[in-house]
Amino acid sequence: MKKVNILFVCLGNICRSPMAEGVLNSLIKEVKHDNYIEVDSAATHNYHSNAPPDKRACFVASSHGIDITKQRSRQITDDDFAKFDLIFSMDESIHKNLLRRSKRSDYKIKQLADYIKELDYSSIPDPYYGDLNDFENTFSLIKEAMNILLIDLINK
Ligand code: 4NP
Repeated sequence: MKKVNILFVCLGNICRSPMAEGVLNSLIKEVKHDNYIEVDSAATHNYHSNAPPDKRACFVASSHGIDITKQRSRQITDDDFAKFDLIFSMDESIHKNLLRRSKRSDYKIKQLADYIKELDYSSIPDPYYGDLNDFENTFSLIKEAMNILLIDLINK
């Protein structure tokens, strides 16, 4: 299998994309594909540069056996559009932002919510202004999307 570099992008890189990075990293380790798939995450904005993930995201991830506390927020760079093979946006506004910046890399940019079966989710809900239940709901949607994405990646 050829190595694949995957980047998850949200607004602040402290809630949704760190959870996505943590979930996919844990799944690829389980199926022993961590040598073939590299995972990272980034923000469209620099509001939280170098900050650890939100405590609530860390708590929910940890309650599912995933440690995301060592991640640090960073803003996406132009080089990321060249380095990564697949770039997943967490919602429509992130998606538009990435498409605007991507130049010739727009074919790499996908919406993670497209990997969720329920039609009522066209984006991964931003839990930042919510409570722990919102984080739990977002985590479980990310997990669902990631199980389907993993099958796609392995079958490539
Ligand atoms: P994220 O959540 O994009 O999933 O990391 C947010 C984090 C920070 C803010 C908004 C959403 N903020 O406005 O600072």
